[in-house]
Amino acid sequence: MRFITVKNYEEMSKKAAIIIAAEVLKKEDCVLGLATGSTPVGTYSRLAEMCDAGEIDFSKTRSVNLDEYVGLDVENDQSYRKFMNVNFFNKINIDINNTNVPNGCAEDLNKECERYDALIESMGGVDIQLLGIGVDGHIGFNEPDSEFVMGTHHVTLDESTIQANARFFDSENDVPRSALTMGMKAIMNAKQILMIANGKGKKDILMKALYGPVTPEVPASILQLHPNVTVIYSEE
Ligand code: GLP
Repeated sequence: MRFITVKNYEEMSKKAAIIIAAEVLKKEDCVLGLATGSTPVGTYSRLAEMCDAGEIDFSKTRSVNLDEYVGLDVENDQSYRKFMNVNFFNKINIDINNTNVPNGCAEDLNKECERYDALIESMGGVDIQLLGIGVDGHIGFNEPDSEFVMGTHHVTLDESTIQANARFFDSENDVPRSALTMGMKAIMNAKQILMIANGKGKKDILMKALYGPVTPEVPASILQLHPNVTVIYSEE
């Protein structure tokens, strides 16, 4: 594992964008595993700037997102599909048909999970997976549990996650109580993992995940078993 400490959010975003851009340059039809949350917004802006400047071309790039709230569709400002369109896809030259987010409004959520896993497999898996980390150590929406869940699944969100994510909603009551998330299999099968974290508030959980025991109670700790992980952390 490579652990890179940087001085601020800007630098974290710039370095993360360079690592992702390198992947796109090496393999134009690469599969990007993408994340939401406030942490990757700067990374997406940087990548959009590089695309604008003609430095990278996303026209053949494909993507799969980690997760989606159950019950929120693209029209909802808080859905992760909308987040990705606004913060990234609409700003670059990716073909929107090549971008994938689980459908949290599917009639049969279990079928949707199966479809998503089959889709990732048919794409040949993820080349580089971008991850943030939740305050409880979740990655995607893989919440602390008694076991690591392998496939894409329907998950009940932890109280701490609901509270942490309430800042994006009008009130805590509006935060969906469940989500669909890619499981550990697709994440761990990614050829490369890039985790970004910023702020003092993330330091304890990050250290616990990366240097503590590997346990499903700290979902991100599974990354210790992956052979190609880069973590970029900014304390500011
Ligand atoms: C959400 C997402 C995670 C993300 C986490 C951290 O719960 N499902 O993928 O890593 O938030 O968010 P933030 O970057 O806003 O701290």
